[in-house]
Amino acid sequence: MTYYEDPSPGTGALAPRAAFRSDARTLSLNGDWDFRLFPTVAHAEAADADEGTADGWEKLPVPSHWALHGHDAPQYTNIRYPFPVDPPRVPTENPTGDHRLVFDLPDDWPGPDEGADGRTLLRFDGVESCYRVRLNGRELGTAKGSRLPHEFDTGPHLLRRGNVLSVRVHQWSSGSYVEDQDMWWLAGIFRGVTLLHRPEGAVRDVFVHAGYDHRTGHGTLRVDAVPAAGRVTVPELGLTLATGETVTVPGVQPWSAEVPRLYEAQLATDGERVPLRLGFRTVAVEDGVITVNGRPLLLRGVNRHEFHPDHGRAVPYATMREDVLLMKRHNINAVRTSHYPPDPAFLDLCDEFGLWVIDEADLETHGFTYDDWRGNPADDPAWEEALIDRAARMVERDKNHPSVIMWSLGNESGTGRNLAAMSRWIRDRDPDRLIHYEGDRSCEHTDVYSRMYASHEEVEAIGRRAEQPLDDPRLDARRRALPFIQCEYAHAMGNGPGGLTEYQRLFETYERLQGGFVWEWIDHGLRARDAAGRPYFAYGGDFGEPLHDGNFCADGLLFPDRTPSPGLLEYKKVVEPVGICVDAAARTVRVTNKYDVVDLAGLAFGWSREVEGRRVAEGALEVPPLAPGESAEVALAEAGSVAEDDGEEWWTVRAVLADDTAWAPAGHEVAWGQARARGPAATRTPGARITPVRASSADGGALTLGPGTFDPLDGSLRTLHGLHVAVPPRLNVYRATTDNDRGPDEETSVAAQWHRHALDRMRHRCDGVTVDGESLVVTARVAPPGGFFGLCVVYRWTGERTSDGTRLDLSVDITPDGEWPCPLPRLGVALGIRAPLDWIEWYGGGPGESYPDTRRAARIGRWATTVDGFQTPYVFPQENGSRGDVRWAELRGPDGGGLRIEGRPAFALTARRWTTGQLEAARHPADLVPDEVLHLDLDAAHHGIGTASCGPGVLAPYELRATRTRLGVGFTLPR
Ligand code: GAL
Repeated sequence: MTYYEDPSPGTGALAPRAAFRSDARTLSLNGDWDFRLFPTVAHAEAADADEGTADGWEKLPVPSHWALHGHDAPQYTNIRYPFPVDPPRVPTENPTGDHRLVFDLPDDWPGPDEGADGRTLLRFDGVESCYRVRLNGRELGTAKGSRLPHEFDTGPHLLRRGNVLSVRVHQWSSGSYVEDQDMWWLAGIFRGVTLLHRPEGAVRDVFVHAGYDHRTGHGTLRVDAVPAAGRVTVPELGLTLATGETVTVPGVQPWSAEVPRLYEAQLATDGERVPLRLGFRTVAVEDGVITVNGRPLLLRGVNRHEFHPDHGRAVPYATMREDVLLMKRHNINAVRTSHYPPDPAFLDLCDEFGLWVIDEADLETHGFTYDDWRGNPADDPAWEEALIDRAARMVERDKNHPSVIMWSLGNESGTGRNLAAMSRWIRDRDPDRLIHYEGDRSCEHTDVYSRMYASHEEVEAIGRRAEQPLDDPRLDARRRALPFIQCEYAHAMGNGPGGLTEYQRLFETYERLQGGFVWEWIDHGLRARDAAGRPYFAYGGDFGEPLHDGNFCADGLLFPDRTPSPGLLEYKKVVEPVGICVDAAARTVRVTNKYDVVDLAGLAFGWSREVEGRRVAEGALEVPPLAPGESAEVALAEAGSVAEDDGEEWWTVRAVLADDTAWAPAGHEVAWGQARARGPAATRTPGARITPVRASSADGGALTLGPGTFDPLDGSLRTLHGLHVAVPPRLNVYRATTDNDRGPDEETSVAAQWHRHALDRMRHRCDGVTVDGESLVVTARVAPPGGFFGLCVVYRWTGERTSDGTRLDLSVDITPDGEWPCPLPRLGVALGIRAPLDWIEWYGGGPGESYPDTRRAARIGRWATTVDGFQTPYVFPQENGSRGDVRWAELRGPDGGGLRIEGRPAFALTARRWTTGQLEAARHPADLVPDEVLHLDLDAAHHGIGTASCGPGVLAPYELRATRTRLGVGFTLPR
């Protein structure tokens, strides 16, 4: 069998070892290489003869994926293999990229010609999916394991000048069967290539064991090295020890994600000095709970794929750093490296800034599920060596990172003997960390019970250790005693996820539930341009792939360009490490420390008092430095005088960083709470009522009511304060379906029900237009074609003359008629105004969008943005941008004119330059071409968002059922 089809991990690579730097020489070989792509391996082999010539070579940067540089194209699939499943064979059509670099050694590079002083290794940190390395025409070896390092000894083949390094990379290999992760298939040398000098007496491998005993406050330290002879010094602790020696270190500060205390150390051998960073910490399961240094953890995590919209998985260092900073700034304390070991530099950043890490092996065989897992490499002895190699290369490389607290065997690979063997291998090599794997419900080979997308109900049962039993009583008893995490939950696809608050409440209630990892960190949208040159983010199918999974790869908390999505802001709020519960009536605030380790001394608290969104008073708040788990009631000062009729009053309490930290400056907001102290001014001075006027039939019979004119036949509003009403206000129940509305199941999703019942095509029957004293009353029935149910609507218009001018008020009374078979998407009125209104200022929930089950991050205040800024540019267009609890909103044009809409008492607002139909038809944001009409939705209610694109749908309290509803709004000129 060919080397790329043979299931073995490869040939010629050296045994895996820890990633470390030292004072020995290294030479990065990253840069522009020669490259040529062949459609098959045979084509590549036929060209072998002219390996050294100039024929057909182009330039390609290394690291990179060739498909992102104009050679072939990316392809996205989730579960299904994009080639016939016949393991370990792969298709003849196997894009094969030859990479060539001609290089000289620096003049002072020790070695090769003298033949003395050590040897030189060639290291590849990541090549997808299989490769063969030749140096000056001699084969050094072959390798698989895309996200794993391989080192080759250059032996006698390295020259001082004119080295020709040839790396042949195959897109498909036996390795592809075990790398079926839900992501773009992107071949290439996508991580760095380095030449490493290994002097005589160099360290081959090093394993730091730095524990912490929370009872004594002592650390323990042992540094194992191969070869064994070396000395370790830790200047800050005044320590010198021999390799292999165990010492107790009194009074060390332990490492945690909250206080990532690292001690600089050095391992010195005859040939080399290796800097080490020690983090003292002990991971354990005690009484069924994961602890680090004796403290239970609550993981506020995310699943992170390596992704960059231009570079794919060739993620620049600055981007990795940006990820870590963004996580820290959004109260995230944990990362699962789904579903492969990340670039090693990412783990250095996790050590340094403080994140708990589940490091996951590069393994997924999910596509075998379609044949009931027959032939699954996870259970076939022929693959044992390959899978153990994957475990070993991860553990050996990453074993010195204090941030890594669990090893994960991989993702979605069913069950089987090779997983068991991986677990045994890891436990034997590193008994000091926990083992994770979600795919085996029995948990036989793991230390934690882990699930993905379990419903709130099930998670609660697990929290009570009252879950459905396993068939085997021994395994059941074992599992019931394990701690629980959700390694994936809250699918952040498109608008959402909803239901975070309810999960967090469970996690905070049951000690067994130690949190989870939102799926996922970032949308995998690749930057592209459409035929008209408009930029957009591409997803599955956009490169013409016949088999793909569409936008299922756009399911992150960050947009592809790393702009935080509303989902991330919501997550930040939901998992905030300080509970702030303001009781405005009692003028107190209850503050709870939800950190695992630190007290609250690092935070500064402040209060403010806002009237109609304007800050009228503020001050600092003294909060005792509560220990984790403690809470205290703190009195709020009586400051600032506010007149009774000034309007609605809120109190806000914020916790911000007291000092600069490594990841955010002083003043960065960590947590907040808000409560209403007083409702709106009780009485609005009523103006004089205006009576509707009907023009003579000679004038078309138009109706006028204050600042509005109406169609006499159906009562539609035509002009409002001189603005042309292009779409008269009328009931709207539909929204452009979200990814979560559409769910995974086209038959049963809520969107399918809406479409089946034609809620996107509601008909409006006008039943009467009457002048009732001072009101203009329009009655209607709104119902779907073919439907035996509907909504009876009474629109009542009234006019008023006030000191500021005239006002038109609309009250809409909605009464369900018949049996409604499904929830409603939304309930409100939609209207369109033909005017260049571009600036929106509002008092209500903001600054970002919110829906019934995603509204924790929205706070009541005064906000302003453009109409563009009002949109959330989901990679796949869908309902977005609704601002909730809006008391009033003003829309203004460039000339300052516009419209003010007041809620009675509040409404939810969306404003866009396209219709709901256009939004729903669009496939990318670039498809949405603004027209001259500003389309507004003034909603009384919305259906929740949920997370049904993968996981539970909208929870019962957030379902929008047809019930009697009243919406009241008033229209005036802006103030
Ligand atoms: C999980 C899987 C992830 C991803 C997610 C859905 O089942 O582990 O890799 O596919 O579903 O986006």
